Amino acid sequence: MNKFLIAGNWKMNKLYDEAIALVDGILNYNAHPNVEKLIFPPYLYLNELRRHIDNQSLSIGAQNCYYENNGAFTGEVSADMLNKIGMDYCIIGHSERRTIFGEDDVLINNKVKSCFDNNIKPVLCIGETLKEREDELTFNVIEKQLKLGLKDIPLEKLSELVIAYEPVWAIGTGVSASPEQAGEAHNYIRKFLVNKYGNVGNEIFLLYGGSMKPENAESLLNLENINGGLIGGASLDADKFNKIVEIALSID
Ligand code: PGA
Repeated sequence: MNKFLIAGNWKMNKLYDEAIALVDGILNYNAHPNVEKLIFPPYLYLNELRRHIDNQSLSIGAQNCYYENNGAFTGEVSADMLNKIGMDYCIIGHSERRTIFGEDDVLINNKVKSCFDNNIKPVLCIGETLKEREDELTFNVIEKQLKLGLKDIPLEKLSELVIAYEPVWAIGTGVSASPEQAGEAHNYIRKFLVNKYGNVGNEIFLLYGGSMKPENAESLLNLENINGGLIGGASLDADKFNKIVEIALSID
């Protein structure tokens, strides 16, 4: 089992040539097998980048999918289609999908199930807004999103699941959660998973997301229940992304 998963969520960024250059910049840095590197480029480039990466040590996934396999769903892409072009992962329930595109926990749960049905590893994103944190609802929100997002998922699939804790107030703001805040949330998530699923709960990778960058990666990745990062802004720069990978490598 890898020790860390370092993932870049490119969101709706990079033109075609820039995307190729960014991947090349990431491939140029040789990571140790203990750290899995993963990128989530825009849909448009997935097939091309999958071939470009070839069998090199870089995983790739989509930023979203729909839960039906095919049909009259204009503008959507299915987990089945992603699987057939060799995608490894898919982000599900990112807070931008929840807030800008109105995704709810029921839809998110259907997407998680569809990923499992199609051999795509889902990265389920959860996290509270600033208002919810100020109202001391952080743990309630986390628990509700976990319960609903993971409803009826068979136990044997769970070791393939990745969860990203991304406090909404830390995403794209430059202000990450402090190690105390992140550690507390991650410990809570781990406890929830172990209580619900037993030992499998210990195998689920927990990523922190929200303004992770080279300057704060070490203090976050050093925490017991943080197994990696889901990185937005800093993943758009190969040097910064590689630096975070290097930091992960340096942690015993
Ligand atoms: P950020 O984004 O690193 O730019 O805060 C993280 C994310 O939204 O996954």
